[in-house]
Amino acid sequence: MNFTHDEFSKIGCRFGFSQKAPTFEREDWSLFRTLEGLQQRAGVPKNLLSRLVLKELADNGLDNGAEVTVQSLPDKSGYVVEDDGTGINGVPEDIARLFSINRPMVSTKLLRLPTRGALGNGLRVVTGAVLASGGSLVVTTRNRRIELCPERDGTTTVVSVEAVEFPVGTRIEVCFGPTLSCDEYTLYWARLACRLAQLGTQYLGKSSPWWYDAAQFHELLFASGDMPVRELIANLDGCSGGKAGEIVARANLERAVCPDVTFPQAVKLLEAARANARQVQPKRLGAVGPQAFPTCAYAIIYGVASFGSARPPAEIPFVVEAWAEEKTEGDTWLCACVNRTPATGDLHAARDKRGIDAFGCGLSYNIAKASSAAQFNIWVNVTTPNMPITSDGKAPDLKPFLKEIQAAVSKAVRKAHRPEGGSRVSQKAIVLDNSTTSLLRSVVTVNTGSTNASSCTSSAPSSGMSWARI
Ligand SMILES: Nc1ncnc2c1ncn2[C@@H]1O[C@H](COP(=O)(O)OP(=O)(O)O)[C@@H](O)[C@H]1O
Ligand SMILES: [Mg+2]
Repeated sequence: MNFTHDEFSKIGCRFGFSQKAPTFEREDWSLFRTLEGLQQRAGVPKNLLSRLVLKELADNGLDNGAEVTVQSLPDKSGYVVEDDGTGINGVPEDIARLFSINRPMVSTKLLRLPTRGALGNGLRVVTGAVLASGGSLVVTTRNRRIELCPERDGTTTVVSVEAVEFPVGTRIEVCFGPTLSCDEYTLYWARLACRLAQLGTQYLGKSSPWWYDAAQFHELLFASGDMPVRELIANLDGCSGGKAGEIVARANLERAVCPDVTFPQAVKLLEAARANARQVQPKRLGAVGPQAFPTCAYAIIYGVASFGSARPPAEIPFVVEAWAEEKTEGDTWLCACVNRTPATGDLHAARDKRGIDAFGCGLSYNIAKASSAAQFNIWVNVTTPNMPITSDGKAPDLKPFLKEIQAAVSKAVRKAHRPEGGSRVSQKAIVLDNSTTSLLRSVVTVNTGSTNASSCTSSAPSSGMSWARI
């Protein structure tokens, strides 16, 4: 049926709408102001937001190379995350801005490295959770105790500043209001991250020019303020000192500042930097090692993946570790970590007749063969200087790592099914480390205490609860 313009308007009026619908406009950051918006920006359902906040705070301390502790405040009114790192730079107003929801994504981690943070979003989630729930926030660093108040207009006010004896590291006290649910497992993502940080070996080198495709390298230049190109280049592997000067000269960018570099110049610069740097072999990235879950069988697989939308592509080395143990009750269960911290995207395992399938985080594939009678707990950690993500909540896209995940999980599951043929960990080590294992079992398999447990990474399916509380 065809209507003329006038007929269409008349019909519209009869049904209560006009062609001139009102327009509503919001700043992106306004989503951080409510719990509903926050779950959208953070990528986890409401009931897991408190757990995410503590993980973000722990991740920041761990990325700072520090030792981190997370615990409840003595009066149980909230939580405290403390590290012995560098502390946070700046006057109280600078710190208030870092903890404000309307700031741009600010990060010292845009240079690609196997770190936990990468976006500059974590502290906005922390602040948003405090604002949305009506909680409170205190940051103590560099001999100052700074009480902060996140405001609805997106800024954060400094309520008070007190001189205290706290010369090393950062201490963050966070209390949530009653609308944000907490339970006995609120600390566990953070504690798992702390535990995985203590083990094995880590990459101590610089970011490599091989780890950027041309488009992301150009983005890095754009995000670098007024930094001279030479200074940025000197931060890359193989490009320090005099070499930085030679590289910028080769790209004709001797006096240029980063944001002025055009795309073709960025390509030339990237190629010049690569000519000076050898590719980092995956083994140099280090690994967590078998001790993370001493009663599990362990496997490790190395790989290199090409990423990116613009040539030259990034050549990303990575390490996949898998731990598996056979269990006597409950369903097969899967947890993924990226750079030693739990990935908060939705991921779960399902069984078919001959295998274990993984669904979520870019996967919907068989990841191991196993007899249908056997059930397993499986942990995977991917160490990589660049994990493709599909949301601001850092939901990883694990697809580029699929082949190596399949190889590592298959090997670990095979060994777990025949323990005598597999685990490299001695009985003595198992006995010695039994207390931490018990802790970790509860850490990584907890139920949220409310709904939705089986759809959340690191939450056990309800049938696994008795196992989870060993
Ligand atoms: N505990 C800390 N110690 C030192 N610096 C920190 C700490 N927490 C946050 N920062 C600084 O604040 C920045 C922003 O943190 P965040 O919003 O979590 O983003 P990201 O971790 O992705 O960089 C970090 O890049 C880091 O420079
Ligand atoms: Mg962070």
